[in-house]
Amino acid sequence: MERSLQQLLREHQGTHARLDRLLAALDRQPGSPEVRVVLDEFRAALPGHIAAEDDGLFPRLSQAFPERAALIQQMVEQHAEIFATLERLAGEASPPTVDFSARIRAWSNLVREHMRLEDDVLFQGAEVE
Ligand SMILES: [Fe+2]
Ligand SMILES: [Fe+2]
Repeated sequence: MERSLQQLLREHQGTHARLDRLLAALDRQPGSPEVRVVLDEFRAALPGHIAAEDDGLFPRLSQAFPERAALIQQMVEQHAEIFATLERLAGEASPPTVDFSARIRAWSNLVREHMRLEDDVLFQGAEVE
């Protein structure tokens, strides 16, 4: 599925907003049902975004910028890790434990750092269609 670079960047903004909601829900009430709701939103939204990068943008980028191949490979591996961890977290029924909250925060940090590398490094100089 083709998505423009601009669309992918907009989806990153939406992801930041959704992560803000996730962490705010955790702060209000560990184990809040809202946590589960937001995790399910991510489960619905992320596969399309990831596929658009892995199968659409990244192959174009790797042709235009062969020197970015290692970073692209790192991003592809992080996609798998991000989604696998999300599935694990979503399967745990949001227990109100310190451990669960800590793992949500670690996942959120991973997603934000991933998007920072895409926005600030990998996508630099790419054509906006
Ligand atoms: Fe990505
Ligand atoms: Fe992305």
